[in-house]
Amino acid sequence: MPQTMPMVNLQAQYHRFKNDIDAAVIQVMESADFIQGSQVKNFENALAQLLNVKHVISCANGTDALQLAFMSLDLPEGSEIITPSFSYAALAEVIYLLKLKPVFIDINENSFLIDVSLIEQVITPKSKAIAPVHLFGQVANMEFILEIARKHNLYVIEDNAQAIGAEYCSTSVSGFGGTLGHIGTTSFFPSKNLGCFGDGGAVFTNDDDLAMKIRMIANHGQAEKYKHQVIGINSRLDSIQAAILGVKLPHLKSFTHSRQAVADRYNQSFESFEWLRVPQKEMNSTHVFNQYTLALKSKEDRDSLKENLSINGIPSMIYYPIPLHKQPAYFQNVSLPISEKISDRVLSLPICPELSIENQEYIIQTILKFYKNK
Ligand SMILES: Cc1ncc(COP(=O)(O)O)c(C=O)c1O
Repeated sequence: MPQTMPMVNLQAQYHRFKNDIDAAVIQVMESADFIQGSQVKNFENALAQLLNVKHVISCANGTDALQLAFMSLDLPEGSEIITPSFSYAALAEVIYLLKLKPVFIDINENSFLIDVSLIEQVITPKSKAIAPVHLFGQVANMEFILEIARKHNLYVIEDNAQAIGAEYCSTSVSGFGGTLGHIGTTSFFPSKNLGCFGDGGAVFTNDDDLAMKIRMIANHGQAEKYKHQVIGINSRLDSIQAAILGVKLPHLKSFTHSRQAVADRYNQSFESFEWLRVPQKEMNSTHVFNQYTLALKSKEDRDSLKENLSINGIPSMIYYPIPLHKQPAYFQNVSLPISEKISDRVLSLPICPELSIENQEYIIQTILKFYKNK
């Protein structure tokens, strides 16, 4: 068995860039410009250029990014936000905190992404936004979502925490995930495709007015010091995190290619086995594989594979074991059969740019052996 096998090898990534990261961090410490230092603006500008989006507003984490996005819209209490139930909790949490109401809908069984064919049937006079989540690393069907949004005068807020750098290209819509709707958000949580060494996040928009408002809200609602125009929060990316992200950003494309190579090797090894389903491509989107998520035939299969991997020193994760509409905090009495089924069957395997071929081969062989012996 290989010695250590984390889901994401953050130590190996640090050591790849150690000299540059150490130098960048020391520079911040020497300048003592810890808050809103030049590193923050430089990183925002570099990311805006890379994603071809007009405004990048960095903030303290990906959940705050969502909160800033929704705060900037000033939606009336009880406004309905259409969003998938099979997802991470941050979006639902923010929606409820702002006294809005998530309307959970089901996902497409193959892509794990919002099932766009269900959106129109839940639109009511209270609907104000569609909030797709670009889950696991690929962009939801934005062509369809933007068309429905235009037709019903809805905002589109993209949760792009897991798909930074994923590209969408259809006949009428093209660009990077997170830059296609009115506002997009991302997270720089350490295990994300572009991760810092703590918490961090950002908001993207091409709308000048929204950008100005979001920047103001993130800074206590002030555009000028001690002049508070709106109620805001304190949500800033600090200079040390920005400096680290500034070192990593030029490598984002190569991180993506490495993740795709890992995913290709998994796919080739598992494709012909009917007992597990490899991740399916969403039409018109590239996949940046923040997660490599398999779907098994049953909950029992999933749980026993997970246990077997663990016995053999291989970590795996269930993203996500309970759909949001079944969580006590966000409970809604609706039936979303695909989300319920999929949360019982998914299993995410280790994936990161630093996963060695030797470790990956060990994971693959362990899975194949487990099924042979069953
Ligand atoms: C889809 C999604 N949205 C939002 C978030 C929240 O990001 P953060 O942890 O930086 O607050 C995450 C982070 O895990 C996420 O995966």
